[in-house]
Amino acid sequence: MAQQRVLITAGANGIGAAIAERFAADGAAIFVCDVDAEGLERLAARLPGLATQVCDLSRREAIGPMVEAAASTLGGIDVLVNNAGVGGATVPAHELDPADWDRVMDINLDATFMVTRAAIPYLKASPAGVIINMSSVAGRFGYPNRIAYATSKWGLIGFTKTLSMELGADGIRVNALLPGGVDGERLQRVMEGRAQLSGQSLETVREEAMTYQSLKYFVNPRHVADMAAFLASDSGRSISGQALSIDNDMQRT
Ligand SMILES: NC(=O)c1ccc[n+]([C@@H]2O[C@H](COP(=O)([O-])OP(=O)(O)OC[C@H]3O[C@@H](n4cnc5c(N)ncnc54)[C@H](O)[C@@H]3O)[C@@H](O)[C@H]2O)c1
Repeated sequence: MAQQRVLITAGANGIGAAIAERFAADGAAIFVCDVDAEGLERLAARLPGLATQVCDLSRREAIGPMVEAAASTLGGIDVLVNNAGVGGATVPAHELDPADWDRVMDINLDATFMVTRAAIPYLKASPAGVIINMSSVAGRFGYPNRIAYATSKWGLIGFTKTLSMELGADGIRVNALLPGGVDGERLQRVMEGRAQLSGQSLETVREEAMTYQSLKYFVNPRHVADMAAFLASDSGRSISGQALSIDNDMQRT
């Protein structure tokens, strides 16, 4: 396969950064956008040759120019990783501020749609276009007190399956990844939110999380990145329209 040209959204930190590192190790040309300028600088220092752009994905008008910049910098786009996603508050539905609901939908669904819409012409021009959408275990189960997040992550499954059908004839494969608890700052925040709401200690909340997954550890971001690399490679050439879990066999959220 020729050198892949990869656009990763919100990839300065966490899972997106791990995906950038993995694709870089495979020799890909990569463009990462994020709102976190310092995070992008840190990543670029680790990955020579990485192209980056500061972009606030909640600003719809910023998205088209960002995708154009990615395509012109890379000379096209073969792989789009829609990694951007925010968690929102941990509160019961009737207490959720509608502005928080909007913020989650703006990033997790609207921005994903806008980036994808702009990238599709480039993916069609690619010999092997690939879209990877970052859903979550919250796109497989209900998730009490996280209604905006769960709704958006289930939405991405419909988005994935529909695009797979629309774009398959163009040789573009579209899949969703559904990570479970991934080690990192975000998981720490989720656990803290649960502890606060339940009045339990952080340690108890973390221990409880292990009781409803088969493998008794949190997912390493590199494992999500490995799956993304597999899906984008020729080895994944017959996989499309799928919702693929990487969650240590979670039985609930
Ligand atoms: N961490 C987990 O346990 C977990 C589990 C399942 C799914 N996910 C999903 O994986 C994806 C990445 O999660 P993560 O844990 O790496 O998150 P993270 O919080 O570590 O990183 C998210 C990135 O998004 C960027 N970002 C936030 N708002 C932005 C905006 N408006 N515009 C541009 N960039 C913005 C941040 O600067 C950050 O670099 C998300 O879609 C998340 O929902 C994470």
